[in-house]
Amino acid sequence: MSSRKFFVGGNWKMNGDKETLGDLIMTLNTASLNDEAEVVCGAPSIYLDYVRSKLDQRIGVAAQNCYKVPKGAFTGEISPAMIKDCGIDWVILGHSERRHVFGESDELIGQKVAHCLENDLGVIACIGEKLEEREAGTTEDVVFEQTKVIADNVKDWARVVLAYEPVWAIGTGKTATPDQAQEVHEKLREWLRENVSDAVAGSVRIIYGGSVTGGNCKELAAQADIDGFLVGGASLKPEFVDIINARS
Ligand code: PGA
Repeated sequence: MSSRKFFVGGNWKMNGDKETLGDLIMTLNTASLNDEAEVVCGAPSIYLDYVRSKLDQRIGVAAQNCYKVPKGAFTGEISPAMIKDCGIDWVILGHSERRHVFGESDELIGQKVAHCLENDLGVIACIGEKLEEREAGTTEDVVFEQTKVIADNVKDWARVVLAYEPVWAIGTGKTATPDQAQEVHEKLREWLRENVSDAVAGSVRIIYGGSVTGGNCKELAAQADIDGFLVGGASLKPEFVDIINARS
């Protein structure tokens, strides 16, 4: 097994309220969690402050999106500076819902990555192909292109986690098989070796997302190049604890 620290992100998306998130936080705070896993919960922006104040400090918190400048006339947006001001250390960028529901381009995602890292906010950068792209045999082209735009905007990879999330597996109950996921993760690591450096290829966590559950997490976590997960639906349930402990 590699020396990369196992990383499990929960992506709560636009779900929960103070009561239900409070219950979930209580479950996480009192759970026995593997010390070897780094855990970060992505909360809706309006609850970031609330979640950070309630969640045990051994668990990180992430925003699910942000803008590319510190402040200004950008109605409805939040900046890395504001996120940091709430004691939050991470942000999820380039999630497929940002790309495909809200039309964010690779270019905008790259600019956000650069600005967040300059402001010392850790980035969970998401990439992944759509079903028609997989069926057309272009998975590698798509994820390499998305990774290139991210990589062009990263100077220091220490605060970057790459999340491979095939769009066809997100929220569908159709998980990539361990072999399918491992194959893409291995190719992404090779791409990093060729285009960034050996050291970065060896150290960057590449996590898998797409219908991860308590039932399928152990087999996925046993793959050599899968360094953790980004979990949507199951991160809102007590089974998130089993996913965090997938390598225990
Ligand atoms: P899912 O979502 O686990 O519900 O498939 C994953 C994600 O969107 O990050």
